[in-house]
Amino acid sequence: MAHGAMLLLISLALALGPAVGFYGGSMTFTPGNRFPDGSVEMHFYYRESSRGPCGSQADWICESGSCGILTYTEPVVTDSTAQNLWCQSEVHIATNVTSNGPFILSSSGCCWEDNVHGVGGWTLRTHVDTSRRSDTQSTNRSPVSAAIPNIRIPQNCFQNIHLLAHDPDNDVVRCRFNDANCTVCHQHQNIHLYQESCTLQREDSLDVGVHVFELLLEDYPVSNITLTDENGVFSVSNAFNDSSNPTALSQVPLQFAVEILPPSQGCVPGVNKPSFLTPTPLHGDMHHAAVGEEHEITLRAQISDNSIFDFQVSGPSNMSKTLTSESNGVLVATLTWTPQKTDLYRRVPVCFAAETLHSQSEMRCIIVAVAKARVLSGEAKVICDDNSISIVVSKASMDGIDQNWLQLRDPTCSLTSNATHILGTMSLNACGTTMDDSGDFIVFKNEINSFENLNAVITRRNQVKFGFSCQYPKMASVSNRYVNHKSDYIFTESSFGTFGYSFEVFTDSSFNRQVDPSQYPVQVQLMDQLYMGIEAHTALPEVTLFVESCRATPEDNPFSAVFYDIIKDGCIMDDTVMTYPSISTKYDFKIQAFKFTGGFDEVYISCSVILCAKDSLNSRCAQGCLSQAAQRHRRDVSQETARHFITQGPLRVARQTHNAASNDGGFLHISTSTGVFAGLFVLSIAVLVGMLVYNVRRTRPIDRMHLLSTF
Ligand SMILES: *[C@@H]1O[C@H](CO)[C@@H](O)[C@H](O)[C@H]1NC(C)=O
Ligand SMILES: *[C@@H]1O[C@H](CO)[C@@H](O)[C@H](O)[C@H]1NC(C)=O
Ligand SMILES: *[C@@H]1O[C@H](CO)[C@@H](O)[C@H](O)[C@H]1NC(C)=O
Ligand SMILES: *[C@@H]1O[C@H](CO)[C@@H](O)[C@H](O)[C@H]1NC(C)=O
Ligand SMILES: *[C@@H]1O[C@H](CO)[C@@H](O)[C@H](O)[C@H]1NC(C)=O
Ligand SMILES: *[C@@H]1O[C@H](CO)[C@@H](O)[C@H](O)[C@H]1NC(C)=O
Repeated sequence: MAHGAMLLLISLALALGPAVGFYGGSMTFTPGNRFPDGSVEMHFYYRESSRGPCGSQADWICESGSCGILTYTEPVVTDSTAQNLWCQSEVHIATNVTSNGPFILSSSGCCWEDNVHGVGGWTLRTHVDTSRRSDTQSTNRSPVSAAIPNIRIPQNCFQNIHLLAHDPDNDVVRCRFNDANCTVCHQHQNIHLYQESCTLQREDSLDVGVHVFELLLEDYPVSNITLTDENGVFSVSNAFNDSSNPTALSQVPLQFAVEILPPSQGCVPGVNKPSFLTPTPLHGDMHHAAVGEEHEITLRAQISDNSIFDFQVSGPSNMSKTLTSESNGVLVATLTWTPQKTDLYRRVPVCFAAETLHSQSEMRCIIVAVAKARVLSGEAKVICDDNSISIVVSKASMDGIDQNWLQLRDPTCSLTSNATHILGTMSLNACGTTMDDSGDFIVFKNEINSFENLNAVITRRNQVKFGFSCQYPKMASVSNRYVNHKSDYIFTESSFGTFGYSFEVFTDSSFNRQVDPSQYPVQVQLMDQLYMGIEAHTALPEVTLFVESCRATPEDNPFSAVFYDIIKDGCIMDDTVMTYPSISTKYDFKIQAFKFTGGFDEVYISCSVILCAKDSLNSRCAQGCLSQAAQRHRRDVSQETARHFITQGPLRVARQTHNAASNDGGFLHISTSTGVFAGLFVLSIAVLVGMLVYNVRRTRPIDRMHLLSTF
């Protein structure tokens, strides 16, 4: 530990050099007051990232059109560390625009942070049109996005980055690379940008070092609208779907740096990289805040192999962050922000990630919508059952609301009512209920909305928007009558309803009689045949169980440093394993008993299992045994559940008797699999009888370099 701290200090000293590299910037804008003379006050919020020292290098100029007189605030530091590991500041720019023509604000500078592709200069451009939109009767609002100051990902863990692409006017948002002629830019051959979801996906590995991303966000109307300027001159903006070459209503920059770190030992959330826990908001969530009232956002993250020291946050000026530690490597950040009058109607992006020295959690971004006062809220009770959600809303608390104008996200599902309450019940995979993975919980969400009579010209009804959700722990804690025997596992997922697994040891190859739970730990002799069976219990008929991996460990922890792979990536690694044909929701196999050397008496077997829709051709189940190289193949993840770990044990392997040890003629028994990880792990094999393998994860010398190059 002391060693690590020293290295950190040395590298900090290096980081304090004079040059401050640009780490990116993002802009959003929103119209304010419209004055009788026809001018509109426009508000721009610009966030700029650096490693620190903090400040803004951007100097916005009017590149074309008439931009009015720009009034700046001083940059306000919104998040930083004392050690200059990251920093972000926000500047508010306001201008009164008298002419209604479009205009472009721009800013440029010489020096991106030193990066892999030697990109030097940067330019940020913001296209604005203050005309009145026919659908909102107001000036267009720009798409809203942001990014944390310094995205850091170990090379082997980069899969994709989900960027925020919100639009306050419900327009279609498209993300593009800055260069107009470039969909797959020269500097990002190994990255694919999904323009509509604003997701960057890895196609091939990226070099270690800083990579810069220069994106533009554009918004397009969902239906044909007209834009009318102050002189009554109007133009048509065609719906995104109806036009082969649609024109954007506005363009804002989103630029950021991604630092690819040297490969880490693994990418398992919660183990090698921080994973978020409830009540951390989900990516894309919308929060509602009111002027003058403190709004609080709680972030919680956990890691077992390392320690989380902070959260990087991209938020508005005046948002504060307090950190508290909990047990088991959990760090909590409480973000508080009190919107001012000038923030009214803003949609404010807030992005965050949890930090360790070697890794970072995924980045999540949410929107905080600022209203005058708290949105009207009814009194509701949400009941979460195994397979359904029920909501009961008191009518008395929703004065002036006509229940006939309320609907669930899927309007074909009906709400019912009695004299006092409005009632709705829906199954977890119906009525527009969406599913999100929050890390330790699966969250099912729906909402009750009011809708308009399309033929009415005016409305006098209050608007209702009422979100509700049910959270299900991914791993249910099952009361365990027998301390050593693991009971069935129960998981809940969207299109699979509630399902569970059992993992049992059987007495013989008929797989009819399971070893009684009271017999645990199961006593076995080396060379004995062990009969084990995994079964999925689900009401759905058309599913297949897939056992992706099974690993033996000497302790009740599938991530134990000492382990032996029995099945890996769907491939059987141990020569003594034999599987028995069975129905699609069962997996029966036998294996010859073995034991870990080094004084371990017990063996636990942990398997990761997936359920897939039976007929799906692209699911993990259909792929079967995959060598390392073949794993980049895309899968249809809607057709399968997440990976679940189930564990059984312990098996207690009887101590060697002299007799047993001498009756084995064959000596070394190494399965062919051991070569695969010989490069990563030192494998020491001790031979007693049959197969005894002992795996030790070596502390790799690369770790120290890791620290140096990270900071
Ligand atoms: C815009 O004009 C209004 C009214 O004249 C004034 O109160 C406001 O300060 C002006 N805003 C800016 C940014 O110049
Ligand atoms: C894109 O390519 C066209 C022709 O290839 C060229 O005329 C245009 O200037 C390019 N635009 C940019 C922004 O590089
Ligand atoms: C929108 O405009 C386009 C082009 O004029 C037209 O083809 C399309 O039908 C229009 N869509 C609607 C919904 O009116
Ligand atoms: C555009 O069209 C596609 C398919 O035609 C549809 O799935 C999508 O929802 C449409 N988008 C909008 C914004 O209407
Ligand atoms: C920050 O908060 C202070 C006092 O709470 C307030 O006076 C100031 O205007 C706020 N700044 C911004 C940018 O909201
Ligand atoms: C309406 O239903 C709710 C929920 O089931 C119940 O609590 C309430 O008593 C019912 N009211 C009447 C008048 O039956």
